[in-house]
Amino acid sequence: MTKFLRVAAATALLVSSVIAAEYTIKLTHVVSPNTPKGMGADFFAKRVGELTAGKVEVIVFPNSQLYGDGEEMKALKLGNAHIAIPSFSKFTSIVPEMQIFDLPFLFRDKTHLHHVLDGEVGQAIKDKVTAKGFVALDYWDAGFKSLSANKPLIKPDDAAGLKFRIMSSHVLEAQFKAVGANPQVLPFSEVYSALQQGVVDGAENPLSNFYTKKFNEVQTDLTMTEHGYLGYLVVMSESFWKKFPATYKPLIIQAMKEATEYERKIASEDDDATMAKIKEYAKTSGKLTIHTLTPEQKAVWQKAMESIYPQFYNTIGNGLIKKAQAVQ
Ligand code: SIN
Repeated sequence: MTKFLRVAAATALLVSSVIAAEYTIKLTHVVSPNTPKGMGADFFAKRVGELTAGKVEVIVFPNSQLYGDGEEMKALKLGNAHIAIPSFSKFTSIVPEMQIFDLPFLFRDKTHLHHVLDGEVGQAIKDKVTAKGFVALDYWDAGFKSLSANKPLIKPDDAAGLKFRIMSSHVLEAQFKAVGANPQVLPFSEVYSALQQGVVDGAENPLSNFYTKKFNEVQTDLTMTEHGYLGYLVVMSESFWKKFPATYKPLIIQAMKEATEYERKIASEDDDATMAKIKEYAKTSGKLTIHTLTPEQKAVWQKAMESIYPQFYNTIGNGLIKKAQAVQ
């Protein structure tokens, strides 16, 4: 084949693969593409393309480009977006029981976390999301959250009087009030400017969000409290899924299963790599100090924050909390 024919054949293939897409899935999320969630979303898009031979195309809209916090779930309901990957707290008004995953110091470690999410408790929460007219797919990871501010937060008293940005969750609100701080709900897309302009003094984030959104540039101290967990539930628009052709459904589910494994693997590797980058930034800029807590210092934070549990025995269900705690 001549060079001309090879180019023509490749062009024809490309054009046919572009125009051959019969269905489009719009996937919206609010973080950077280079976070575990962002990479998981891109991986899912790639696998859907491969498994359906280009007949189904997933278009990923990162960084709140299409919909931000508070808009994503409405967009799914209206069928304007088809898949979203909101953090647990963003389900508060739809399924208040989902706030169980916001409870500080609920998860002992990642193994415990995954056993809870993939077991009876995680399924009970998914069932509630399904009952509200969404298709609940898989749980994805971000990481354990730590606190940043413009001062070290070695003990809970250090946070007293500070304003902290929170996601919309009553548990997170109570958690900060328990240490004498003032929580303020803000969408994720506004956190950088709120920290920069002093609208809030601090925030809680997993390392990936802290670093990829450059919060390290507008905070002087990162204290490794690891007091809570940020994770996601991938959800789909029910109206969209009902109309989606049955032939492609198993392939979409297969792509999601693979994307979940990939995303969780990336998230487990990402913490160490991101911490190395944050340490490098701290060293070269001299503008950030990272504080590691001793087990005794962490225990003081745990005692102060865990005091809020009884406030949520009714909303979340004491039984569900006990069940999650008992998971091995
Ligand atoms: C996200 O990771 O989706 C954003 C979490 C946040 O709002 O802090």
